[in-house]
Amino acid sequence: MSQALDASGAGSDTPNLDFAGTTPYEDYVQADVLTHLQHLRSDDPGEMVFLVTTQVMELWFTVIVHEWETAAKALREDRIPAAMDALKRSLRELEALNASWRPLAQLTPAQFNSYRSALGEGSGFQSAMYRRMEFLLGDKSASMLVPHRGAPRVHAELEKALQEPSLYDEVLRLLARRGLPVPASVLDRDLSQRYEPSPQVEAVWTELYADPDGQADLHRLGEVLTDVAELVWRWRNDHLVATRRAMGAKTGTGGSAGVTWLEKRAQKNVFPELWTARSHV
Ligand code: HEM
Repeated sequence: MSQALDASGAGSDTPNLDFAGTTPYEDYVQADVLTHLQHLRSDDPGEMVFLVTTQVMELWFTVIVHEWETAAKALREDRIPAAMDALKRSLRELEALNASWRPLAQLTPAQFNSYRSALGEGSGFQSAMYRRMEFLLGDKSASMLVPHRGAPRVHAELEKALQEPSLYDEVLRLLARRGLPVPASVLDRDLSQRYEPSPQVEAVWTELYADPDGQADLHRLGEVLTDVAELVWRWRNDHLVATRRAMGAKTGTGGSAGVTWLEKRAQKNVFPELWTARSHV
């Protein structure tokens, strides 16, 4: 940043206050837009933090999708260090995302009820950016596009993400290029379908984990992916526990069985063979 000089030649100690139009900060950050997107639906003072936490999480989802898409592209081009950098950034971001549960983690049913009815049928289940995260992790599902039929841009982005290789698909293709026996049925799979665990892929990870120094960069990649998987699982569990506290076994605003449905979602392992291979090493 430029700094005005005073008579002695030293830098002036007052910041520049004089801008012809909006400030350069505003031009870059668009803070005025960001801080006027809080359209509350109730008079309850607790609704503000519920809405802002949800918006903050949406922003983190956006950053994490960006990192994982960067990592997937780098893997496709055999640029493993660049992929590792993006994945490691995403770990710190996932930690920040998970920390943002704190303001909502201890909501009582009465507090949540104060604005819950104002949410109508709105539910995080309809979050397109969360769905893109899940698609990148390999959890594809065409039916998850249905809620977005009325929003052409969002629908097109999700459709593209559904058809593209996930981050995990790119990892498995890399392992195959490095001479590991990833079966053709996995490499040529229908990318728009949910990734199903494969015994042969489990054997590949078992081999890599049994000899960490053999292809050390691939072993390190496996560990960073395991960190990602663990932090995603922690987000799902924090969400589950916050939901249990705030609404018990009531039906969700999105129409699901609520906690029972979330329990099932939280049970699924991200990058499944990275977990099951550990039993065989
Ligand atoms: C304590 C407050 C919260 C409660 C009680 C709650 C409750 C629920 C429930 C019951 C569901 C299941 C679908 C449904 O029927 O609605 C759900 C899904 C979901 N919620 Fe929340 N939620 C809360 C906060 C949040 C926040 C802050 C976010 C951040 C964006 C969020 C994101 C999601 C997502 C992404 C799903 C879909 C999960 C999946 O597809 O596996 N939730 N939530």
